[in-house]
Amino acid sequence: MALWRIRDFHDDDLDAVIRLWDDPGSGDSEPVFSLSELVAAVRADQPTVVATVGEEVVGCAVAEVDRDRAWLLRLSLSPHWRHRGMGSALLSGLEERLLEAGVHRISCLLSSSAEIGAAALEHQGYRSRAGVVFYEKLEAVTFADRGLLGQLGGRILRPDLWDSLKGMVKEKELIEQRVVLPLAHVELAERAGLLPPRAVVLFGPPGTGKTTFAKAVASRLGWPFVELFPSRLAGESPAGLAAALREAFAQVSELDTVVLFIDEVEEIASLRGQQSLSAAQGVTNEMLKLIPAFREKEGRLLVCATNSVRALDAAFLRHGRFDYVIPVGPPDAEARRAIWDRYLSEVPHGSLDFGEIVGRSEMLTPADIEFAARRAAQVVFERSVAGEVGASATTEEVLESIRATRPTLTSRMIEEFEADIEEYARL
Ligand SMILES: Nc1ncnc2c1ncn2[C@@H]1O[C@H](COP(=O)(O)OP(=O)(O)OP(=O)(O)O)[C@@H](O)[C@H]1O
Ligand SMILES: [Mg+2]
Repeated sequence: MALWRIRDFHDDDLDAVIRLWDDPGSGDSEPVFSLSELVAAVRADQPTVVATVGEEVVGCAVAEVDRDRAWLLRLSLSPHWRHRGMGSALLSGLEERLLEAGVHRISCLLSSSAEIGAAALEHQGYRSRAGVVFYEKLEAVTFADRGLLGQLGGRILRPDLWDSLKGMVKEKELIEQRVVLPLAHVELAERAGLLPPRAVVLFGPPGTGKTTFAKAVASRLGWPFVELFPSRLAGESPAGLAAALREAFAQVSELDTVVLFIDEVEEIASLRGQQSLSAAQGVTNEMLKLIPAFREKEGRLLVCATNSVRALDAAFLRHGRFDYVIPVGPPDAEARRAIWDRYLSEVPHGSLDFGEIVGRSEMLTPADIEFAARRAAQVVFERSVAGEVGASATTEEVLESIRATRPTLTSRMIEEFEADIEEYARL
């Protein structure tokens, strides 16, 4: 008598099939097709067979038919049933169904490390093709999203933005751990009982990199970046602004994935008591309603930035709305060094006294440093235009460009920022 039975997949088998997927010993551990593709295929009634022992599902094979070709998406075997011929039996059961469906070529992609499946495939007469390389590209935006994204002024950002953000090691690490990784690895996060974030606030003095961080997160995730400008949405009246916000959020919610960025969010979510017009309160109230709805769908992140976190309505910052309230502060010496390096790398220069340069730029933000480096570039350019061959910036010229740059930061700002961290940061 056969030890197992091969039969068609039933809806009730889905849990067992997912459990097999989750068991690292039951299939290719670096699968080319994802669990969601597998689930989509079985839900769409693509040919799927399971192996049962008694009532228990101990193996499955899932295919997807594309005219006369089928792809084998997954072959799973409970570890206990490996090396007993069950893999071949599953394949043979699946092939019967594929033949019926008019398939004459069956293909399978296994990772080169796959220990499961290869023997069964060989045994069933599949031949591996030497010299084949698998190329893959993920299009970040679906065709349907493309037009909408254009309307919203959104775009896909370059993939290297994260790396071009220099220094700020603490902030980078925090944002990577709390925001980027859980969104990039949703399944792992959920298995760990961690809900990936849906909305975060970045606060800090002007020019410290809040907008840059928001873009870098979108770039890391490969999600489109859409920025809403409250001042442009506003139109004439606060009532118009509330309606425009509602409309913008509705449009954004049609995108598959998106990082939605709102800068200077205090303009639309300031302390209700401080607003003179009741209509302006209406705008804040509208935001308070929009965020919970925004949070409901996966694949979206709202990033709000402000220079003035203390001006925000307390209800706005509450736990249920924002997962994290993250300070993005002035760069410390190490960060300033890295930022100087980045911007001066584009300016011809001899050996520079970076200790001095970094020491003299204590009250400069990254934006100020970028600006000062551009001033130094201007000086080099002027010398070149004047005929100097091989003109390059000297330490003194860089220091002079620092003196000529008005620092954004003041001690008062830094004190307030530190007090705000105590009062508002949530990490
Ligand atoms: N860590 C960094 N490394 C390199 N460049 C940076 C860094 N942070 C910011 N910059 C540069 O500084 C400029 C200002 O940064 P950004 O606009 O992100 O600041 P912000 O905090 O959003 O400012 P604001 O509060 O005025 O909106 C940008 O041109 C950006 O490229
Ligand atoms: Mg900004």
